[in-house]
Amino acid sequence: MPKKSKEKWKIWGNVFDEYTINTIKKLMTQNVIDGIESPVKIGKEANIFTAKTKTGDMRIVKIYRLESCNFNKMYDYIRYDPRFLNIKKQRRQIIFTWVQREYRNLIKARAAGVRVPTPLANINNVLVLEFIGDDTIAPQLKDSMPESKTGKEKMQNAITCELRKLYTKAGLVHADLSEFNILNYRGNPVLIDFSQTTPVENMNSDDYLKRDIGNLIRFFHKHGLDLLPEELYQKITKQ
Ligand SMILES: Nc1ncnc2c1ncn2[C@@H]1O[C@H](COP(=O)(O)OP(=O)(O)O)[C@@H](O)[C@H]1O
Ligand SMILES: [Mg+2]
Repeated sequence: MPKKSKEKWKIWGNVFDEYTINTIKKLMTQNVIDGIESPVKIGKEANIFTAKTKTGDMRIVKIYRLESCNFNKMYDYIRYDPRFLNIKKQRRQIIFTWVQREYRNLIKARAAGVRVPTPLANINNVLVLEFIGDDTIAPQLKDSMPESKTGKEKMQNAITCELRKLYTKAGLVHADLSEFNILNYRGNPVLIDFSQTTPVENMNSDDYLKRDIGNLIRFFHKHGLDLLPEELYQKITKQ
């Protein structure tokens, strides 16, 4: 570990619990990352950091907090996911399964050609992702909607196209979609934050899809793009 990372490591050592520190150390031993760089966001359930590899490539590290996660909410989401029906209501098991689920959802979405960050590793409560951005992270769509009408329409169509692949090819519904979980990378959308994502077979998936569509319609409307929810629903789901 270079000296600079070692010093930084001391600082982060005061932020994380011992279990999480050991998990990060494992990722370092496996050469997935070489240390944590800087905080990006302190979220409701997870903290996001940038990290670097030994060769200097950027990574995103998403660390679910073991103590302050709302694991009751996690349990309610996960118990109806057909892939995890036998899950027991135990804090750590729920959190680890939640992170695994995000990893698996991203793999599945990627395999279907959806623009998402490649998941690179997952141990316990820590997920390592491809860094979306160039020198700095790509902005969220809420702060980076194109200015021109044609630019806006192009973005709307591109998002619809990603959601169609997600639904018809990957068989998934995002379930937490909004302008906060779409990044604008060089003018194209990248979908992120797949922890709530669930197979279409989940009995609640249609409600989640309608909620996602409602969020998008509201955001598009703010930008002068009017589209009926039913129309967007058709575009996303028709085979
Ligand atoms: N792979 C990534 N590349 C670049 N930025 C990212 C990536 N993943 C997350 N981020 C940034 O971190 C923020 C929070 O990540 P997200 O997965 O949405 O977590 P949360 O569950 O806390 O909302 C995002 O809005 C985005 O700004
Ligand atoms: Mg998010």
